[in-house]
Amino acid sequence: MPAPVLYLLGSAAPPVLDAAKAVRLGRSLGWDVVLGLTPTAADWLRDDLAGLEELTGHPVKSRYRRPGDPDVLPPADAVLFAPATLNSVNSLALGITTSWVIGYAAEAIGKGVPLSVMPCTSTALTAHPQFDRSVETLRGAGVRVLLGEGFHVPDEPGRGNPAVYPWAAALQAVTGRG
Ligand SMILES: Cc1cc2nc3c(=O)[nH]c(=O)nc-3n(C[C@H](O)[C@H](O)[C@H](O)COP(=O)(O)O)c2cc1C
Repeated sequence: MPAPVLYLLGSAAPPVLDAAKAVRLGRSLGWDVVLGLTPTAADWLRDDLAGLEELTGHPVKSRYRRPGDPDVLPPADAVLFAPATLNSVNSLALGITTSWVIGYAAEAIGKGVPLSVMPCTSTALTAHPQFDRSVETLRGAGVRVLLGEGFHVPDEPGRGNPAVYPWAAALQAVTGRG
C-alpha cells in the first residue's frame, strides 16, 4: 500500500528554514511528504530547494501551474500549514488565494481534507485584531489550529527561537501518531 500523502505548506517565518527537519520527521512517521512554500518562503530557501526536492522526491511547489500544464503532485491525505505567518493565517481565513499554498489550503477546507495550521506569530502580531477573528473563522470551518500549550506559544517580538518550534508535536497530531 502506498504511503499516505502529507502536504507540508510553509510561509515566511524563521522555522521554515528547518523545513528539511520537518520533512524528515514526517517521513519517519511513514508519510510521503510534499512541500509547498509561499513565494517569500521559497525565496528564503532558494539555495536549498534542490536538496528539498531530492529529500521529498517531489517538486517543491510555490507557484500556480499554468493552465494546461499537468499537475504532477499526488493528492493529499492531510495538510499541515506550518509555519503560518500572520499574513498567511489571515489570507487563508479570508480566502485570499494569491499564492498557491493558500489556494491549496483553501481548497482542502472545501474538500474536507484534514487541515491543521500552526501559526508562528509574536505576541505583537498575535495581538492584531484580525488574528483572533481568523483563528475563529478557521476553527469554525473545521481547521485544527495548533496554538497554545504543546503547540505554538507566541514569544515577545525578537525573542522567538525557531529551534523550539514544535514540529514533532504538530506532525504527530496531524499524522495521528500522537
Ligand atoms: C527575519 C524575518 C522574520 C519574520 N518572522 C515572522 C514571524 O515569525 N511571523 C510572521 O507572521 N511574520 C514574520 N515575518 C514577516 C513575514 O515574512 C511577511 O509578513 C511575509 O510577507 C509573509 O508572507 P507569506 O505569508 O506569504 O510567507 C518575518 C520577516 C522576516 C524578514
